[in-house]
Amino acid sequence: MDSIAQRTHTCGELRPEHAGQTVTIQGWVDSVRDKGGVMFLILRDRYGRVQVTLDERCGPNAWTDAKAARLEYVLEVQGKIHTREDHAVNAKMETGAIEIIADRVRVLTTTKPLPFTITDEAKASEEVRLKYRYLDLRRGPLQDALKTRHKAALAVRNHMDANGFLEIETPILNRSTPEGARDYLVPSRVHAGHWYALPQSPQIFKQLLMVSGMDRYFQIVKCFRDEDLRADRQPEFTQIDVEMSFCTRESITTMANDLTRHVWSTVIGHEIGEIPTITYHEAMERFGRDAPDIRFAMEHTTVDWASSEFRVVSGAAEAGGIVKAMVVKGGVEGTSRKVIDGWTEFVKRYRLGGLLWGKVNADGWTGPLSKVEAELRAQIPDVEVGDLVLVGAGPAAHVHAGLGKLREHIARQRDIIPNGTFSFVWVVDFPAFDHDEENDRWVAMHHPFTKPLDEHIGWLGTDKMGDILSDAYDLVCNGSEIGGGSIRIHEADVQAKVFTALGLSDEEAQDKFGFLMNALQYGAPPHGGLAMGFDRWCMLLCGTENIRDVIAFPKTTTAQDLMAGAPNRVDPAQLDELYVKNTDG
Ligand code: AMO
Repeated sequence: MDSIAQRTHTCGELRPEHAGQTVTIQGWVDSVRDKGGVMFLILRDRYGRVQVTLDERCGPNAWTDAKAARLEYVLEVQGKIHTREDHAVNAKMETGAIEIIADRVRVLTTTKPLPFTITDEAKASEEVRLKYRYLDLRRGPLQDALKTRHKAALAVRNHMDANGFLEIETPILNRSTPEGARDYLVPSRVHAGHWYALPQSPQIFKQLLMVSGMDRYFQIVKCFRDEDLRADRQPEFTQIDVEMSFCTRESITTMANDLTRHVWSTVIGHEIGEIPTITYHEAMERFGRDAPDIRFAMEHTTVDWASSEFRVVSGAAEAGGIVKAMVVKGGVEGTSRKVIDGWTEFVKRYRLGGLLWGKVNADGWTGPLSKVEAELRAQIPDVEVGDLVLVGAGPAAHVHAGLGKLREHIARQRDIIPNGTFSFVWVVDFPAFDHDEENDRWVAMHHPFTKPLDEHIGWLGTDKMGDILSDAYDLVCNGSEIGGGSIRIHEADVQAKVFTALGLSDEEAQDKFGFLMNALQYGAPPHGGLAMGFDRWCMLLCGTENIRDVIAFPKTTTAQDLMAGAPNRVDPAQLDELYVKNTDG
């Protein structure tokens, strides 16, 4: 075979101004149309697609290999650029105003029978596509997603650099300091029985960089968490990690707003307006979720349940629970008993016992809530004929979770969420600690380095632990938590008090976090920061709800790489060297 020529152009770049030029292009066969005396091949590369035409104008050598071409073969084509006649222009292709009249067509590589056809729509199952990810990545939407991801990362770096932030790499092999999710562990060969942990985030290192005087740090960084996976979670994912010294919550959220605005504007030309701020308490009250989707209303109202009707409800209220109502506007239409039964089953998944409902008709309410119509009407504003009222009662956590998720479920079912919009909101003043009922201990809601509000620091270790609010903030967009952070504790004595309040003895705190505690004693500046979920940003920028669409080589929901076959069993000799023994037989 002749040596491979250097291409003169990519498939996507050819335009009418190239007319008359002889070009060499290389790429994959996207489609073949053989009409006897005329043949059209579409060639594709990362830059686009172009039509190669074989007809009576072609060189005599062009036909042999062209006839042999099949989908996804790699071809080299030499030919002359012709502008197309007006009626033959293909407006759907960026190169649609020209065609290449082939002088020579060469098959560079053939392909085995394809496991699926490469088309923009994903027709094969995701399992097959993940197994042949390199083929799936040839599809237009995935190529576009990776381009968008690249542009977003570049926009982040440019913006952070322009604002005085240094990108500094932090270690991947770390000491295990489990907090939140489980660690991924790596055995040490040199130190028998000792393990490294992969970072769940660079949290402690970025704080240490502030102690070092780095002042403004950022990093686009891989993080690893062994946790249950969902549509927007991966075991390894990427954060835009940021830390600043001598800052306030306002200066951090302003920096984050500027960064977010810059990325949205640069990457997709969308200008983000004012970003509202609500407290955690308000988010739970109004939406039942700490990451509320505020693209639509259907807000919750707390009801003061005076009625003795429905023992379950009054009983829940008496037992310290809450009663909440939610109005589905125009919900009478299209809501059968079967639909309501479906919703009842739905809320049970979130441990809410059940749902009461009432349909607001012109001549009064129907359904179970009709018995308490007057009482509810007085408390729920703006109920109109045609609306459906839903009520849930029980422990606050169950009511919030059940009705909060149901609100989003109904909005999706009834198709009332506007497409293509971005509703950002900051959620602030989170409770600092959560009570772990099972183990009867307090755990940090964000992480234990988060500063409690100044006025609450005195409550550490007292019976007001549950009331302590922290100087933490989350950025939410369209109901997804896309970032979060906090002002940190920079005083060693306050940090020690938090560890004690979390039930860590001095020795345990020293053992786990000694290096941070020591560092805080050597002139730590006040500091704070946040981390943005970069994959989730890319999901929003690409308009997809599947995190795997924006990651080149993602894991499945059972944390597997179906293409490479990870995780895999390893040679026992490799394990011996690491002093590790399999216990699963
Ligand atoms: P946090 O744990 O809130 O904060 O993480 C920051 C953001 O990272 C994203 N995220 C994930 N994305 C995909 N898959 C996952 N498994 C996953 N887990 C989290 C979310 C989240 O908002 N060190 C702190 C930040 C700080 O305080 O500065 C931290 O990691 O979008």
